[in-house]
Amino acid sequence: LKVDASPQLARQIPDTLFGIFFEEINHAGAGGIWAELVSNRGFEAGGPHTPSNIDPWSIIGDDSSIFVATDRTSCFSRNTVALRMEVLCDNCPAGGVGIYSPGFWGMNIEDGKTYNLVMYVKSPETVELTVSLTSSDGSQNLASTTIPVSGVSNWTKLEQKLVAQGTNRTSRLQITTNKKGVVWFDQVSLMPADTYKGHGFRTELISMMLDLKPRFLRFPGGCFVEGEWLRNAFRWRESIGPWEERPGHFGDVWHYWTDDGLGYYEFLQLSEDLGAAPIWVFNNGISHNDEVDTAAIAPFVKDVLDSLEFARGSADSTWGSVRAAMGHPEPFPVKYVAIGNEDCGKKFYRGNYLKFYNAIREAYPDIQMISNCDASSSPLDHPADLYDFHVYTDSKTLFSMKNTFDRSSRNGPKAFVSEYAVWRSDAGRGSLLASLAEAAFLTGLEKNSDVVQMASYAPLFVNNNDQTWNPDAIVFNSWQQYGTPSYWMQTLFGESSGAIFHPVTITSSYSGSLAASAITWQDSENSFLRVKIINFGSDPVSLTISATGLQARVNALGSTATVLTSSNVMDENSFSNPNKVVPVKSQLSNAAEQMQVTLVPHSFSSFDLALA
Ligand code: AHR
Repeated sequence: LKVDASPQLARQIPDTLFGIFFEEINHAGAGGIWAELVSNRGFEAGGPHTPSNIDPWSIIGDDSSIFVATDRTSCFSRNTVALRMEVLCDNCPAGGVGIYSPGFWGMNIEDGKTYNLVMYVKSPETVELTVSLTSSDGSQNLASTTIPVSGVSNWTKLEQKLVAQGTNRTSRLQITTNKKGVVWFDQVSLMPADTYKGHGFRTELISMMLDLKPRFLRFPGGCFVEGEWLRNAFRWRESIGPWEERPGHFGDVWHYWTDDGLGYYEFLQLSEDLGAAPIWVFNNGISHNDEVDTAAIAPFVKDVLDSLEFARGSADSTWGSVRAAMGHPEPFPVKYVAIGNEDCGKKFYRGNYLKFYNAIREAYPDIQMISNCDASSSPLDHPADLYDFHVYTDSKTLFSMKNTFDRSSRNGPKAFVSEYAVWRSDAGRGSLLASLAEAAFLTGLEKNSDVVQMASYAPLFVNNNDQTWNPDAIVFNSWQQYGTPSYWMQTLFGESSGAIFHPVTITSSYSGSLAASAITWQDSENSFLRVKIINFGSDPVSLTISATGLQARVNALGSTATVLTSSNVMDENSFSNPNKVVPVKSQLSNAAEQMQVTLVPHSFSSFDLALA
């Protein structure tokens, strides 16, 4: 394997090459990175017609002791449903009657930690409400306090801190009373006090995102942006401002309700917290089943311009002032937008696209616009800065697709490979095999990074309790998380964005099952030549790696080899064995300009040669 590191053939990889695609799918956001523990906190999920289903809330008590129903008496005009609880018993059972929220398949309540409860209450009579964190059957009490409510006929906001005295991973929040009378509840929220930077994100999941060193964050979907029907598509305007006033919505593609606590503002905040460029995928008037005629698209265009003013406008602009009031007076640097998702073949795509494109270009000339139409093999019939490219396929096909962009035009829009993954039988629930093919594909993107500007795996997250898409890079439940081999594979590409690419040639009888790339990169102290090699075959392969044209000597001291492999190519990680297939790093004592390596079968090796 020859690396030609001479300056004439070196090329800088775009700073943006590897990033993250975050979609609200598999409860990635609600019940995922968004740390809110209550699901359906405003009782809106059952729809506006009352009585409505209050799921997943439930009742403590029986027909003779309590009557609970939704009505439309909320003080919030965009989410009018509230919960009316009528206590019927004179001598209520010990412990009282009331309601409880199991959160998202149980709340992770941890000993010594503080949880902030906020709820809106109306009660014409004086009552005492007991709020508790308990085990899923109510038998174990983790935290409890009594809140006197002294006859409020107007809605009142109550706030209470609860400190847990015990750990239970599947807890619930209870609100109970012994007193006969009527109490209304709305917008009941329970947030852990310690979230990432205090911004409401689940720290351990953010830390897994940070370890990918993402240079961009594409959000909030995917199909989630489109909706099966436009009436259920993501609406940025409904997802900003005080959380209590957000109506929430049913995502009909992935079949679940979200209170939209993780809204447009929070996505922008998340990209800032990750140090990643925000890429706002907006709905272009097209869903899976209905479309807005281009003749009627103008209000949708205005809506998107408003979203950009919200992100980028000064704090005294109409929408910038809303952002500032939410706590971020400085603009968010939105430099990329995607006009729709996977809509290229739709009847009104081109017409709508041009309306959005022209309006945004005029208002924000620096914003790069991403078309849904593939230009990897033939030119687009419309202007674009980038084009979207999605691929989900089997491992052999993806391995061979490392050459996809070799023959793409060097002129015109750049590629944004915003969704790639091996799926179906080769993927299991996240196999080593899948990760090897994906790694090979990514080496091809590095090689073609003169025309490929960005790439991201999809989907990123799955809550183990609601997997609508398989596989996914990070698997979690209320308290645990692990990366699939596809996640770990990506960590070995984290240094590539902005690094220097060097051409590689392989001469071997095994070259059909090998893929490789080389970069030089720097950490805060040292420079390295990184050679990544995927052995996709089932035989061990011995290679001589020789590097020419380097501007410094290779130093064995500080050189390392990192290998991702396992005894079986279909091996996966799991909650019980999260580190079965993870990269293993060792010193590379024979590191030199020319060195022998042996690649074990089905492996992804990353050799970092320290440059003195
Ligand atoms: O990543 C899952 C889905 O795959 C995305 O929502 C969509 O863009 C693609 O079809």
